[in-house]
Amino acid sequence: MTVQAIPQNAAPNHELPDLIWPEKSGDIPDWIYTDPRVYELEQKRIFQGATWNYVGLEVEIPKRGDFIRSYVGSVPVIVVRDLREQVRVFENRCAHRGAEFCKSYRGNSRSFVCPYHHWTYDLTGKLAGVPFRNGVDGKGGYPEDFNLSDHNLRSLNVTVLGGAIFASFSQDMPSLEDYLGPELYGEFTTIFSGRKLKMLGIHRNVLQGNWKLYQENLKDPYHATLLHTYLTTFGLFVAGNKTGIVADKDGRHSALLNAKPEGRPDNDASKAEIRSFKAAMQLADPSILEFNKEFDSPWTSSAITIWPNLILIRQLNILSLRMIVPQGPNEFMLVWTAFGYEDDSPELEQHRLRQNNIFGPGGFLGIDDNEALRFVQDGIKRSLPRHGVASLGKDVEPMDTVITDRAIRSMYKHYREVMGL
Ligand SMILES: [Fe+2]
Repeated sequence: MTVQAIPQNAAPNHELPDLIWPEKSGDIPDWIYTDPRVYELEQKRIFQGATWNYVGLEVEIPKRGDFIRSYVGSVPVIVVRDLREQVRVFENRCAHRGAEFCKSYRGNSRSFVCPYHHWTYDLTGKLAGVPFRNGVDGKGGYPEDFNLSDHNLRSLNVTVLGGAIFASFSQDMPSLEDYLGPELYGEFTTIFSGRKLKMLGIHRNVLQGNWKLYQENLKDPYHATLLHTYLTTFGLFVAGNKTGIVADKDGRHSALLNAKPEGRPDNDASKAEIRSFKAAMQLADPSILEFNKEFDSPWTSSAITIWPNLILIRQLNILSLRMIVPQGPNEFMLVWTAFGYEDDSPELEQHRLRQNNIFGPGGFLGIDDNEALRFVQDGIKRSLPRHGVASLGKDVEPMDTVITDRAIRSMYKHYREVMGL
């Protein structure tokens, strides 16, 4: 194949005039994954713009003074329960010289003290004191017009839904219900219904790819039916299952829904195109795939992608969150949080923990995506520029069409609007 020319007749973007999106529907230019200027603009317009970003669970900070470190885009933040039990989110950046002062992943504290010059903030992010404000023996110190209140931590807008905490740099945001839209709100509140949660564990891993590849990955049923031997062979997601894709009206969030049939999938003609389908493969312990129906939902799994930084997964009895933390154009961190409910039986909790081995950095199928995304980033980074193709299916099609890139295209339609590309 020849190298594709970038069309020159599309309207240029004001901030990045040399970057022109290809005209053909479904074409995705390489530079959105690699160009540092695009990455910077994403931080400004998406993560620091009018978006709700997942930052943690209320159950991680149950008591006054409990805090966790988290991120909004690349910006480090602290999520804390203040003395009046209100959840606060502020930048993890000292107002003095800019130090990322909190280095503990989680803890309990009455205040935050920057280690560099000991500026001290209370749990609402207010600057409570600075050492040597008036100098020593009348010499030195800050000028008379120095006000503590001019140097508070930068606070973010916060909202909580069913125990999940979201933050925004924008103070003018719709409710999370309106932000998600009715299609996704229903899926979200099936899991976050207000029932008390219980943390089962957290792990983090760094992936060598652009952060958007992970959003794409969970909006991409095509790969799920092909790449993942575990999903196809044991019927968790195989072409022919009852499936659906729903998206919000702006196309930025979506949910990939699937109903696993009883038992193993038939080894019929529909599996001939699936090289990852291994009819002879057996599980030594099939109990890992047991499903205790716990929600009033026709789906055994839903993969909900919430723009811009959250994946909410329900797969059999696995409940987990994946928070995307971009770390430059070519790298992002995933923070995986597995949870259940406080009133789960000990057996169900054990089952959830065991079942969680399916996902995660070393999981039975999570590892496939880690590799595939790295292959994509390597390919894009190291070869001559051309466009990727996401032209499967139609933009308007029945919800149960599964061999489609519809949700990827709708995400990029929204992305282009926000980015002015
Ligand atoms: Fe995957």
